[in-house]
Amino acid sequence: MNVWVLYGEDTDSSVDLAYEVRRMVAEAQKMDVNVEVFRPQEFDLLITEENRDSILVHGQHRPLPDIVFPYLAENDRNFFSFAVIRQLRQLGVPVLNNEKTIEKVGDKLHTHQILAREGLPTPTTLLAKFPVNLELVEKHVGFPVVVKTRLGSNGSGVFLIEHQNAFSDLMNLIEETNPNIQLIFQKFVSFSKGRDLRLFVVDGHVVAAMERRAKEGDFKANYSTGGTVQLFEPDAEAVDLALRTSEILNIDIAGVDLLFSEEGYTICEANTFPGFKGLEQATGENIPRYIFEAMQRRLGLSGHNPHASTGDIDIPVQIVSQ
Ligand SMILES: Nc1ncnc2c1ncn2[C@@H]1O[C@H](COP(=O)(O)OP(=O)(O)O)[C@@H](O)[C@H]1O
Ligand SMILES: [Mg+2]
Repeated sequence: MNVWVLYGEDTDSSVDLAYEVRRMVAEAQKMDVNVEVFRPQEFDLLITEENRDSILVHGQHRPLPDIVFPYLAENDRNFFSFAVIRQLRQLGVPVLNNEKTIEKVGDKLHTHQILAREGLPTPTTLLAKFPVNLELVEKHVGFPVVVKTRLGSNGSGVFLIEHQNAFSDLMNLIEETNPNIQLIFQKFVSFSKGRDLRLFVVDGHVVAAMERRAKEGDFKANYSTGGTVQLFEPDAEAVDLALRTSEILNIDIAGVDLLFSEEGYTICEANTFPGFKGLEQATGENIPRYIFEAMQRRLGLSGHNPHASTGDIDIPVQIVSQ
């Protein structure tokens, strides 16, 4: 099986997802999988009437792979990369995940709109409009409020504002300086303060799960912001929510984040480029292998059923810090 991984950064670096790409290359060598890593910028797209051979690598035609895995760090999720993915799909190459899904899921508002429409539990979310109607925020969302940039990831665009005064000052500042910024205001799920769950879904199966805990004094549990992680044996409700979320959003390979609520769980967000460094450390699972096996199944090659191995995570619980 020939796989192209699309990754825009230096794989030897420590930037977002470089570790994961190295892990994928290393694991492929142990399987019958040939992985090549390309930056989207290495491609040129030629749109021709015949639409054959319409993708060039370093200006040259090149045999297409069996399957493509876009694994783009935040800076590389752009129009050009999405056009490359679309072109590959148009040439008949299966892509996990496709560009439409990536765009939809990268938009936190759109994600919550779809999940709410399908009746899945999500925190009440309001799209910001300037000038901000404080009464509306107070009435429907309440304080403390979680403020998020619509397209952010890795915890960088997420803030907790405790009181109305601070919120009002901040909104005035934003209105003065950057009124076009796209924000959402979200109900703070206090029951989950500083904790959440990450379930890793590969082609309709939850293959690993962990609980994440924020570092002291923080409310964001992201591993990338210094959270600690530990193995979590997901119960049926968590598995069901993660699978329904990925199915409804049409994500082949997903990181689904759940918040703890008094009633069970509520969905925080889904990710189409989930890292797995902390997850592998916490669970002892081999994530690249699950991904390659799912690809093999898609292509009608071998690839065993992950149900056979998900139930037997028998690594002792361990806490790992970044
Ligand atoms: N509504 C909320 N209530 C409580 N905690 C939240 C809420 N939204 C986000 N968080 C915390 O902040 C973290 C980052 O938020 P998230 O929406 O996943 O953004 P990002 O895409 O940057 O990871 C979550 O993992 C969770 O720990
Ligand atoms: Mg997140």
